[in-house]
Amino acid sequence: MLLTPTLLLLPKALSFNITRPQNPNPQFKLHRHRHLRPGIRCASGVHTERGLEFESGESFFRHESATGRDLGVLGAYIYRQSKGELRVLDALCGCGIRSLRYLAEAKADFLLANDANDEYRGVILRNLGKVERGFGDDRRWVVTHFDANRILSECYLQRDFFDLIDIDSFGSDSSMFLRSAMSTLRLGGLIYVTSTDGYSSGGHRPVHSLASYGAYISPMPFSNEIGLRALIGGAVREASVLGYHVTPLFSYYSYHGPVFRVLLRVNRGKLPENRHYGFISYCNKCGDSKDFSWDELGQIHCPCEGSGSVVVTGPLWTGPLHCASYLSEMLNLAEQWGWIGNGVGTVLEKLLRQMLDESDPRLPSGYMKMDEMASRGKINTPSMKTMMSAICKVTTQEALLDMNQELLLGLVYNG
Ligand SMILES: C[S@@+](CC[C@H](N)C(=O)[O-])C[C@H]1O[C@@H](n2cnc3c(N)ncnc32)[C@H](O)[C@@H]1O
Ligand SMILES: [Zn+2]
Repeated sequence: MLLTPTLLLLPKALSFNITRPQNPNPQFKLHRHRHLRPGIRCASGVHTERGLEFESGESFFRHESATGRDLGVLGAYIYRQSKGELRVLDALCGCGIRSLRYLAEAKADFLLANDANDEYRGVILRNLGKVERGFGDDRRWVVTHFDANRILSECYLQRDFFDLIDIDSFGSDSSMFLRSAMSTLRLGGLIYVTSTDGYSSGGHRPVHSLASYGAYISPMPFSNEIGLRALIGGAVREASVLGYHVTPLFSYYSYHGPVFRVLLRVNRGKLPENRHYGFISYCNKCGDSKDFSWDELGQIHCPCEGSGSVVVTGPLWTGPLHCASYLSEMLNLAEQWGWIGNGVGTVLEKLLRQMLDESDPRLPSGYMKMDEMASRGKINTPSMKTMMSAICKVTTQEALLDMNQELLLGLVYNG
């Protein structure tokens, strides 16, 4: 391991100074007291998650994020199974619960737990102490207290690369760490990134979202989906600068916070022809939404011709939000570990199955609520069963049509 000897031997006082850069980035801020905002629970004391006991101390900690941690651990373990090794950098670790779970459950071979707030050091050390630390080259974990960008850049400079980098930050701060995280990631590695910026996803701070994700976000009814797409779009942009592209393995929105989390695989090679990186329009008159590519920019309109009623958001990710094969593996693993099935873990199981359904690449962006559709059409809302069977019928008809076209083409080509 290349990085740690130099960094770890720094005395505490010195390492604290290093978290204050000489040329401070005006964006750098350590939100020590954000967790005191009203409405956010922060219970100190001893907790248990998936059978692991840990303390939260005075750190920012939420029980409600347990599902997000479950998903991260499942994704990490599957990566380890396929690559044979897993080195994790938990860049904003709080009390270290994720780090503990990556070590104990995902069997991380090495983990670096970092939080800029060195007051959490005691609690992180006690929590990770549940897993034997090891010595020398066999050391399994270390704890540091730097600004996330600093630790990521130090690792990059030392050529100390990681398989999974977890960026669990507040608001839209995660976009500040994406570039250095991607540089410090092994090719084909994973970035698990979080945003809690519900104002931006709702289209209430378009200038802010432009700065954070490079996307101008207008208010649209499917703002949760927009939040996820903007977060992925921001990563697409950062990856592209480095000559990489990202693939979302899963995307998860949760109402508490609200929280937007995506697990991204980063590979070499730019995204071909801006594929899946474009614009979404929404018509306030008829409720229709549509994806547009860059070369269609001048043609954005709605067939209903509602003048001035179309709003546009982008650029952002317009492709699939999840990868079906990765999710299937996560589902099987959750079953194998007894997290779901036999009447347990119904919430997690429902979530994973819903994500699997959503991963169909033919699904367009956005949606319209049935009630709204019915009220616009001046009819009563049909039952869910009627609607589902109608959709399946249309889909089957379309599939048949596609098949017919292919057959026709085949005939033409075969002469
Ligand atoms: C959302 S909390 C992390 C929660 C934790 N991952 C969990 O699952 O419980 C964000 C953490 O980031 C830390 N932090 C804030 N700004 C930071 C920065 N610039 N660099 C590193 N850590 C930072 C805070 O001290 C806080 O503990
Ligand atoms: Zn319209």
